[in-house]
Amino acid sequence: MELLKVRDADALSAQAFEHVKARLLEKPDLVLGLATGSTPIGLYQRLVQAYRNGEISFARARSVNLDEYVGLPPNHDQSYAYFMRYHLFDHIDMPEDAHDIPNGMARDLEAECARYEAQIKRLGGVDLQILGIGTNGHIGFNEPGTPFDSRTHVTTLTEETRQANARFFNTPEDVPKQAITMGLATIMESREIILLASGKSKQEAIRRLFQKEVSTDLPASILTQHPRVTVIVDEEAGALLP
Ligand code: PGA
Repeated sequence: MELLKVRDADALSAQAFEHVKARLLEKPDLVLGLATGSTPIGLYQRLVQAYRNGEISFARARSVNLDEYVGLPPNHDQSYAYFMRYHLFDHIDMPEDAHDIPNGMARDLEAECARYEAQIKRLGGVDLQILGIGTNGHIGFNEPGTPFDSRTHVTTLTEETRQANARFFNTPEDVPKQAITMGLATIMESREIILLASGKSKQEAIRRLFQKEVSTDLPASILTQHPRVTVIVDEEAGALLP
C-alpha cells in the first residue's frame, strides 16, 4: 500500500481527482468502481467540473458501484442510485446503460447478487476502484467478520454503521438494516484501488490498517495483500500514523 498524506478534505479530493483523471486519459474506456458516502463527494465535484471544462470525457467509460441499501427504491433520496445521479451521473456524458449499481429492490436478492458479479466479469473487471472506509474498517458494506473470499452478497449492517449513516435519514430507525455489497474477493480483483479517508472519525481505522495485520476484524486489512493500492488520508485521518 502506498500512503499519501494531504492537508485536508479539499486536498484529498484534489489528489484523488488527479489520480482518476490520469487513468481516464490513459484509458478512455476505463471501468470505474465507484463509492458513495461523504468522502468521495469532492472528487465527484471535480470530475464534473473537469468534464464541463472539456478536460475529460466519460463517453466510453463504464462504472459499477460498491453497494446499495436493500429496500430503498432508486428514486429514494438516500438510495445510492440517487446519490450517484445527484453527484455524478446527471452531470457527465457517461451513457445511461454504462453505469450499474446493485438493485436493492430486486425480488430475488440472491439472483441480483449473481447478476452483479456476472456484470463485473462481463465488463472485464474493474480497472480502478474507489473506496472509503467505515469507522469500523468496513469497505463497501463488508462489515467486520465478512470472509475474505466473499463475492457480491446481502449483508446486515452493524449498529455502528447504521448510526454513522443515521445523519442522512429522518430518524435512526429509517436507516435500512440490509444492503447488497460487492464482496471482499470482488473488490480485491480490481486492478487498482484508491482508498480515501478524511477526518478524525477515521483515525483509528487508518491506524489499524497500517499495522498491516490481516484480520477479518478489520475488513480493509485485506487491501495490504493487493499489489496496487493507494491510501490517501488527510491530516486528521492520518493523525495516529507514525
Ligand atoms: P463516509 O463513509 O465517506 O460517509 O465516511 C465511508 C464508508 O462508510 O465506507
